[in-house]
Amino acid sequence: MADTMKGLKRTHYCAKIEDSEIGKEVVVCGWVQKTRDLGNLVFIDLRDRTGIIQLAFDDTTDREVFQKAAAARAEYVLMARGVVRGRESPNREIKTGNIEVLVKELRVLAKSQTPPFEITDQTNVKEELRLRYRYLDLRRSEMQEAIMLRHRIVKCARDYYDDNGFLEIETPVLIKSTPEGARDYLVPSRVHPGKFYALPQSPQLYKQLLMLSGFDRYMQVARCFRDEDLRADRQPEFTQIDLEMSFVDEDDVMTVNEGFMKRVFEEILNVQIKTPFPRMPYSEAMSRYGSDKPDTRFGLELRDLTPLLHHCAFKVFAGAIEAGGSVRAINVKGAASTLSRKEIDKLTDFVKTYRAKGLAFTRITEDGESSSYEKFLTENEKVAIRAFLDAQVGDVILIVADGNNQVVFDALGALRVELAKRLGLIKKGTFNLLWVTDFPLFEYDEEEGRYVAKHHPFTSPKHEDLDRLESDPGSCRARAYDMVLNGCEVGGGSIRINDPEIQNRMFHALGFTDEQAQERFGFLLDAFKFGAPPHGGMAFGLDRLVMLLLEKESIRDVIAFPKVQTATELMTMCPAEVEPKSLEELHIAVTEKE
Ligand code: AMO
Ligand code: AMP
Repeated sequence: MADTMKGLKRTHYCAKIEDSEIGKEVVVCGWVQKTRDLGNLVFIDLRDRTGIIQLAFDDTTDREVFQKAAAARAEYVLMARGVVRGRESPNREIKTGNIEVLVKELRVLAKSQTPPFEITDQTNVKEELRLRYRYLDLRRSEMQEAIMLRHRIVKCARDYYDDNGFLEIETPVLIKSTPEGARDYLVPSRVHPGKFYALPQSPQLYKQLLMLSGFDRYMQVARCFRDEDLRADRQPEFTQIDLEMSFVDEDDVMTVNEGFMKRVFEEILNVQIKTPFPRMPYSEAMSRYGSDKPDTRFGLELRDLTPLLHHCAFKVFAGAIEAGGSVRAINVKGAASTLSRKEIDKLTDFVKTYRAKGLAFTRITEDGESSSYEKFLTENEKVAIRAFLDAQVGDVILIVADGNNQVVFDALGALRVELAKRLGLIKKGTFNLLWVTDFPLFEYDEEEGRYVAKHHPFTSPKHEDLDRLESDPGSCRARAYDMVLNGCEVGGGSIRINDPEIQNRMFHALGFTDEQAQERFGFLLDAFKFGAPPHGGMAFGLDRLVMLLLEKESIRDVIAFPKVQTATELMTMCPAEVEPKSLEELHIAVTEKE
C-alpha cells in the first residue's frame, strides 16, 4: 500500500529552494526523474512543475528510508522531508545545482509502471505516442513551460483589456447554426426532435449584440469550433482572445490591439516592439509576397514580368498572359551554387502542390545562363528580364506563369517561404508584425457559383466602394484588417455594418433572398432597428500567438490536449460511437458507417 501524506505538508516547490536555505528543513513532493544507486549512497532527482531538486541518502540515513529510496523507480511519486545542504559536486545545468536535500523521512505516495517513453526534455518519440499518453508528455519540462507561459499570456490579455475598460462577458456555446465560413459542429437536441444547436465558430454575432446593448467594450477568452481541414496552425477547437468596441474606427481598434501586443512581448519575452505597426494593403501584400499574410523577415519578393513578355514566343508564358493571368518571378540572389538542377526539380514538385504547372528557371553563372526557357525567348527578352530583376552572376531566377493569378501568387508565395527555410534566411528571435488592410469584401466561390464574404457578412464595405456593391461586388473592399506576425495570421477583425439597410444589401450581394436572410439572421436585422452604435473589433488566435511567441512549429505544442490531423483525440480516442439508446433519445439514425 502507498504511504499517505498525513502529518506532512509541502513547504517548497522543488526548484524554489534557494542556496541561502542551507541548513533549513524542507518538505518537497514530486516525481522521480532518475535515481543513482552507488551502494552506500543513493541520489534521486525529484521533479515538479518548477524543476528538479536532488534528494540525497547516505550512511547517516535511517535504514528503512534508505531502502525505500533504493527501491524507487522513475515516475514514482514521493514526498520527502529533509535538510538542505551544499552539494559536493555542483551541477551547473540546473537551477538548484549547488544544493541537495539530505532526506530524513521518505514517503512513496504512488508507484509507477515503466512509462512508454522516458520523460525527458529532448525527445525523438513519435508525436502519436506522446499524444496517446499526453498526461505523461505534459510532464516534460518543455511542455510544462509552454502551458505555463500560455497561462501568463491569457492573464496578460485579461489584465491589459481590463486596464483599458473592457468587460469579459461569456457568450453561449450552444447556438443557432448560421452556415457561412467553415462548417459547423452540430449538437442534436433531445427535446426538439430533428433540431440542432451549433457550436460557435466565433462569438461574432453575440459580441455585436453586446455592443447594441451598450456594453461598449467587450472581451472574452472564447473557445471556437470549426469543422475544417486541419493543418499545423489549425485545430477544430481553438481559443480566441475576442473583443469588440463601440464608437470606433479602424485606427482605434488597431491602436488598442497594438498596445496589447506590446505588453505581451514585454511581459513574456522582455522584447520591445515598435508601434504603430506598418500597414500594407491586401493588393500590395499579394503582388510583393504572393500572400495576404506576408513574412517580411526576408526579401525574395515577387516581381511581375508580364509587361516584358506580352509578345513572347514561349507558349507557357504567352498562354498564361492571354488567359488573363501573369508571369511572375523571384530572383534568388547568390543561390546559383546552392540551388542545383536537382534542387530546382524538387522546388518544381513543390510549386505543383500549389496547382502551378511548372517552374521555369535560369541559373546565371560565369559561363552564362543555363535556363529552362533559353530556346523559347529572344535575347532581348532575356536581357530585359535580367535587367528588370537586377539579376547578377550567381543569381537564380524562378518563374511561374499561369492563366489564373491566384495560382501564381499561391505558388510563388509558398515558394519564397520554402526557399527562405532552405537557405536559412530566417533569423530566430526576430518578430515582424504588420497589418494587412483593404481586403476584398467578397471572394468568388467556384463551387457555390456565387460571391461569399471574404471575412464575414457583417463586415462593413469601404464607404467609397458602397455604390458598387450590386454592380461590381468583386471590386469592393472591406473595412477589415489582419494582424500578421512572421507570416502567420495571428488575428483579424473589421468595422461592422451597423445600418440595417446596408446589412440587407450585403445579404443580397451574397445571394440570399429576403426570406433566407430573415430566416438565418432575422434576429440581427431586427436588433439593428433598435439603435446599433458604430462598432468594430477583432479576435486573436490565442494558440497561434502562443506558438509564435514560443517559436514552436505547431499549435499542438501549446495546447494541453490537442487533436490530430483527423480531428481525433488520441488519448480518449474521440470521436467515438455512442450507445444506440443515446442515439434513439436524440432521434438520430446513423445511415452510413466507415
Ligand atoms: P477569424 O476567422 O479571422 O475571425 O479568426 C480570428 C483568428 O483566430 C485564429 N484561428 C484559428 N486558430 C486555430 N485554429 C483554427 N481553426 C483557427 N481559425 C482561426 C486565427 C485568426 O486570425 N469573428 C472574427 C473576428 C472578428 O471579426 O472580430 C473571426 O473569428 O489566428
Ligand atoms: P515545357 O515546354 O512544358 O517542356 O516547359 C519548359 C519549361 O517551362 C520547363 O522548365 C517547365 O518546368 C517550365 N514551365 C512549364 N509550365 C510552366 C508554368 N506554368 N510556369 C512556369 N514555368 C513553366
